[in-house]
Amino acid sequence: MSTQLIEETLEETGTLEETLSFAPVCRSEELETGWGEALLLDGAQLALFRTEAENFYATSHHCPTSGAKVMARGILGDTIVDGQAVATVACPLHKEVYRLDTGSCLNADSPALPVHKLMEVEGQLWMEQIK
Ligand code: FES
Repeated sequence: MSTQLIEETLEETGTLEETLSFAPVCRSEELETGWGEALLLDGAQLALFRTEAENFYATSHHCPTSGAKVMARGILGDTIVDGQAVATVACPLHKEVYRLDTGSCLNADSPALPVHKLMEVEGQLWMEQIK
């Protein structure tokens, strides 16, 4: 993969702990609206999603319940949590529903789906580096 990296300071505290490294993953136009795509990045299997609301998310491709590598084929949706609309993905096997922003499971007592920060800059998607 490209070695080009960008640094974005999320809050202006000046501490290294609050600075995240991002790496390019793909052009946003390569993701179809309403679907997920699987991605192998530095040995990690990931799922990238582009929602109908034109928001982008990155998660593990592994279902946290079973470990099956299926999340990129999950069913996108949304729901209301505490009065806020949140994007969701349902695992295609047993239909457990996970928030795409936090990874928490909304309909079962399941472990959270690992999520990764993703941002779009001028049509390029950048993902927080996996350490
Ligand atoms: S395999 Fe994902 S919820 Fe069962």
